[in-house]
Amino acid sequence: MKLMNPDYRGRTVPDLFTCSDGTPVTSKEVWEKKRRPEILEMFRNQEYGCLPDMSDAKTMIRLADSRCDGTFMGGQAIRRTVEIETERKGIHFSFTFVLFIPASAKKASPCFLMIGNRGIANADPARHFMSSFWPAEMIVSRGYATAVVLTQDLAPDYDEGFTTRFHKLFPEYTGEQRPGNAWGAISAWSWGCSRIMDYLETDPLIDARHVCVVGHSRGGKTALWTLAQDQRFFMAASSCAGNSGDALARGSTGETIAQITGRFPYWFCKNYRQYAHNENSMPFDQHMLLALAAPRLLYTTSRTFDNWANQKGQFDSAVLASEVYERIYGLTGLESKTMPKPETPLHKGMIGYHMKTGEHNLDEYNWNLILDFADMHGMQG
Ligand code: GCU
Repeated sequence: MKLMNPDYRGRTVPDLFTCSDGTPVTSKEVWEKKRRPEILEMFRNQEYGCLPDMSDAKTMIRLADSRCDGTFMGGQAIRRTVEIETERKGIHFSFTFVLFIPASAKKASPCFLMIGNRGIANADPARHFMSSFWPAEMIVSRGYATAVVLTQDLAPDYDEGFTTRFHKLFPEYTGEQRPGNAWGAISAWSWGCSRIMDYLETDPLIDARHVCVVGHSRGGKTALWTLAQDQRFFMAASSCAGNSGDALARGSTGETIAQITGRFPYWFCKNYRQYAHNENSMPFDQHMLLALAAPRLLYTTSRTFDNWANQKGQFDSAVLASEVYERIYGLTGLESKTMPKPETPLHKGMIGYHMKTGEHNLDEYNWNLILDFADMHGMQG
């Protein structure tokens, strides 16, 4: 029985193709019915945390506003504002998101859902503030709809004891009684993305079979977790996600689990802290998160100066995940197993990757390549 995959580029990482009871993964059926679900449960129970039972909660979706009046995007887009409200035991929580749809589209539009972790100035519904972090005009001009949700509207990005926004629906989960596997902020943000998908599936102007979730850094970790959990998403694009995102935790040359759980404990469940200074005891690693994307499209990016995100660990993890595309689905994951030079994208396989010269960021250069990759792999339908 081979639970570990020794000497992979100097690391020993858990083997994707051996179930925890030793069953070898030799077919698509064993992967999809046994190994994939058990990997998902490991990430739920030991890293990002499980959402609470919501069978006693009711969620309502309301199209609050829809217009195309020339005051934004020169009349090129319809802007919709959607409100999603959840009620549980008399407690209400609601958030809104905006959606721009190409006004001249002849058919339902594929969509990029942006996880906005940099506030309203980088996600302005009125389009007074332009930002290459979310270049909505460019995305629309290339024939895609694009939605944005602010992480802070879903769950706060600081430690407030799980008492506000999404968290406040579950007062019994606060303080000492909070179980070790209870959700962190990343899982709450990801829940929001899935509720947005619920809306997109009802909008006749949207092609909900072709939706990509996009995020940078903490937003990139969330995009990857969303693609893993919600198979309605066609693709995820994660920029500089790094530790606890697309980079292998083992042998990290950048951020470690001790550092991330020290500064951002509320992103994860409490159980994850046991792996601080103890990565080698994890029964999983981040290549397994990327493998949960298969056989769908996945795109990851690095920056040359972003050592904190551990570029080599990001790339190696995508190389390992490629094996699921290849061995289980007969598809190419990454087109090359050799890390490419900066500004040399790898686009031919189902996993796309590029490295850009520069600091930790997401900008129009990245977006153009993400859209090229999506066009090339049929996201326009
Ligand atoms: C911090 C954190 C990273 C994270 C980044 C970001 O640097 O340590 O893990 O990716 O913030 O979200 O920008």
